[in-house]
Amino acid sequence: MRTHYCADVTETNIGETVTVSGWVSSRRDHGGLIFIDLRDKDEVVQVVCDPADNAEAHKLAEEVRDQFVLIVTGKVRARGEGLENPKLKTGKIEIVADKLIIENRSLPMPFELGDEKVNEEIKLKYRYLELRTQKSYDIFKLRSKATIATRNTLDELGFLEVETPIITKSTPEGARDYLVPSRVHGGEFYALPQSPQLFKQLLMVGGFDRYFQIAKCFRDEDLRADRQPEFTQIDVEMSFCNQEDVIGVAEKLIHNIFDKCGFEIPTKFRRMDYMEAMEKYGTDKPDMRYDLAMVDVIDIFARCDNEIFSNIAKDTKANRIKALKVPKGDEIFSKRQMKGFEDYVRKFGASGLGYFQMKEDGLKGPLTKFFTDEDIQAIIERCELGVGDAVFFGAGNRKLVWDYMGRFRIYLAEIMEIIPEDKFEFLWVMNFPMFEVEDGKTKAMHHAFTMPETDENGKLVYDDIEDLKSVAYDIVLNGTELGGGSIRIHKEDLQKEIFKLMGISDEEAQEKFGFLLEAFKYGAPPHGGFALGLDRLIMLMTGASSIRDVIAFPKTQKAQCLLTQAPSPVEPEQLNELSLRVRKQIDA
Ligand code: AMO
Repeated sequence: MRTHYCADVTETNIGETVTVSGWVSSRRDHGGLIFIDLRDKDEVVQVVCDPADNAEAHKLAEEVRDQFVLIVTGKVRARGEGLENPKLKTGKIEIVADKLIIENRSLPMPFELGDEKVNEEIKLKYRYLELRTQKSYDIFKLRSKATIATRNTLDELGFLEVETPIITKSTPEGARDYLVPSRVHGGEFYALPQSPQLFKQLLMVGGFDRYFQIAKCFRDEDLRADRQPEFTQIDVEMSFCNQEDVIGVAEKLIHNIFDKCGFEIPTKFRRMDYMEAMEKYGTDKPDMRYDLAMVDVIDIFARCDNEIFSNIAKDTKANRIKALKVPKGDEIFSKRQMKGFEDYVRKFGASGLGYFQMKEDGLKGPLTKFFTDEDIQAIIERCELGVGDAVFFGAGNRKLVWDYMGRFRIYLAEIMEIIPEDKFEFLWVMNFPMFEVEDGKTKAMHHAFTMPETDENGKLVYDDIEDLKSVAYDIVLNGTELGGGSIRIHKEDLQKEIFKLMGISDEEAQEKFGFLLEAFKYGAPPHGGFALGLDRLIMLMTGASSIRDVIAFPKTQKAQCLLTQAPSPVEPEQLNELSLRVRKQIDA
């Protein structure tokens, strides 16, 4: 149905007869002549229908409307002087229609294709129309390049691509499971995998040495701009390796993906300790495209004449007093704005936000009266303040201060418009704590299969369980967690001990992970790996504002597919077969 794709019809074809096919992206009737912009997957070519050349084609062209499907045969000619379009590959030529077939018609579009302001619900309902835009095609072309680069790189590095089950037993990654009822075993359920974590570890026990998979994962969790219930990971695992080996593979892979997609990035990425990231940026995924780092001033505030601060400063383990300097902040922000920032941090639990301004005649602000001249000087030096700078203070429980000061840092960078859009700043965040305690419950920070730091005898050493480190690392890109991984536990005793620390009883461990504990008894090799979020990677690469733009058929924030109307009720017979009853329906 074509001799050429639109993009391939150029000056070299002048005088030749070609056939192109595609969709009408616009049609202009200039009295006698009708001009049609015909678009296929990635380019537009101009078709001219002249009644003097071919009356039949011209008559059909009168019926043509936007998004009709056409097959056009005609002679290529140069466009007239001054009529060239330098924006198009085909901008120097046009095709004079000799034969025009209307292969299919189209209703008027429910929204203007490519219009960024259109309501997203409509775009998702007609997702196939949104996909017809150049912008979408370019995203998926890049995504395809990225997966091909992934396969080629990992193949060269000796990794084997293996598929792991989709209907399986729950793999805990911290979210709720999607469950699949079993028909054959009434009342029993499979779970869709939150990641292939346990299967990839079992492949190492199986001796495969190096595994990868471009794996679909499913997590029933609250959705955000960078989360979908169904997403894709580039999942990697290797045996007889240490942390450096794993990081080396991840860097090579990420570098090759970016390279093949046309972006230059470094071959090695900088690293930061988890604690340093929290103390300086208040988050384990700091955006390194701008600075605005925090400094500790708890020791200076301990000496001040204000009880609120001096009391907070008494417990230096649990609490923090952090200063965030904004260069030239005093000149940029009005006093009202400075006060308004307090409302912002209060939303995240702060009880207040102090500030100082560095004026020609010294440090000013509502708090200065509580400090001695030496301590004012100490603050100036610690925060490296120059005339015109502002500095903000957060004080309280360390997790709270990290959180709201970290958010405030991002908020400031956004309103000051200091975030470069065209930069990729990668960062490894290293040495994650093994656990965090929330509401009295000890939870694994990465997952329960992560190797904790041990002494030379393989024993865990810690005073406070939250201080226990692990051999786990995250890769962060421009403030988004792109991926994470760890060296794994490969011995039964240590794995059992970790379960115990998490409050998982022996029976529960046996019931949920007995197969893994069993496998560890049969010569499990040391192993480790990582997983990258493919959707997030493409989102960051293409500058898309939402992960939905880089998934062909995504779900809404409420986990619905507006195109197919999933999820949807099912027939009572189907429920019966699955030994299920829906309470809501019965009550109604
Ligand atoms: P983790 O849970 O950190 O690790 O997931 C790895 C990466 O997957 C991406 N990701 C998501 N992307 C879109 N929507 C989601 N809901 C979503 N959840 C996670 C992120 C994240 O960094 N088994 C471990 C990896 C390992 O230890 O090897 C795991 O799944 O980019």
